[in-house]
Amino acid sequence: MADRRPILFFDSGVGGLSVLAPTARLLPQAPLVYVADSAGFPYGTRSEAEIAARVPALLGRLAERYDPRLIVIACNTASTIALQHVRAALDVPIVGTVPAIKPAAALSRTRVIGVLGTEATVRQPYVDDLAARFAADCVVLRHGSAELVAIAEAALGGEAPAVAAVAETLRGLTGQPRGEEIDVIVNACTHFPLLEDALRAATGNRVEFVDGGPGIARRIAHLTEGQQWPAEPVPGRAVFTARSARTEALVPALARYGLVEIEGL
Ligand code: SIN
Repeated sequence: MADRRPILFFDSGVGGLSVLAPTARLLPQAPLVYVADSAGFPYGTRSEAEIAARVPALLGRLAERYDPRLIVIACNTASTIALQHVRAALDVPIVGTVPAIKPAAALSRTRVIGVLGTEATVRQPYVDDLAARFAADCVVLRHGSAELVAIAEAALGGEAPAVAAVAETLRGLTGQPRGEEIDVIVNACTHFPLLEDALRAATGNRVEFVDGGPGIARRIAHLTEGQQWPAEPVPGRAVFTARSARTEALVPALARYGLVEIEGL
């Protein structure tokens, strides 16, 4: 029998759409629920303790309400801090998002790579572990930016991202010793692939950008292999933990991702 249970994507804001989009391309029949914790946004400037408490509690409520077959924490900040807590608390398969340092190291010729995330993500010991395991022969420079997250949210709301502001943020990486040698940047925040054109323009197309979205989509396809999907496509649903003029401005963009039923938690 067809199984209508959705895949649930969770982020602080709209960044997780950069993970949802490749998943929707790979699994077009999958019912999708996208949750933006607009009441808690932004995560990148919050403390570890706040995120470690907030994310499992919220996902517990969401799991009860939507009965997902799989939850994707489509947010690097939440994943690097709260993934283990969520897995311990919920009896649902959980896929996290971690900085794509491994593919970046495989691509880099200069052996100098940048990790661009939120302040909270780039200071996580987890990032040190990934760098040590997968990029031991690279110089790994990091920069955390709350501004780029805000620019990405505004861009989804219809505001064209200013390349000059994006370039200024990138100087947080390229202005570091050896920063000029960076040839690959890890988008270690799911918001940043939404700014790919502006990021490429700001680097004069001299740098490759990598992110975890396509790899996560493949992982989800693998984990759901053999499962039943509804025969007819189910309209995608977007859920905000708080609705406001800012979240309403995002509704047209959400529709472009197939998320047409909008509700609050
Ligand atoms: C943010 O809410 O600051 C962005 C979180 C993330 O995608 O890492």
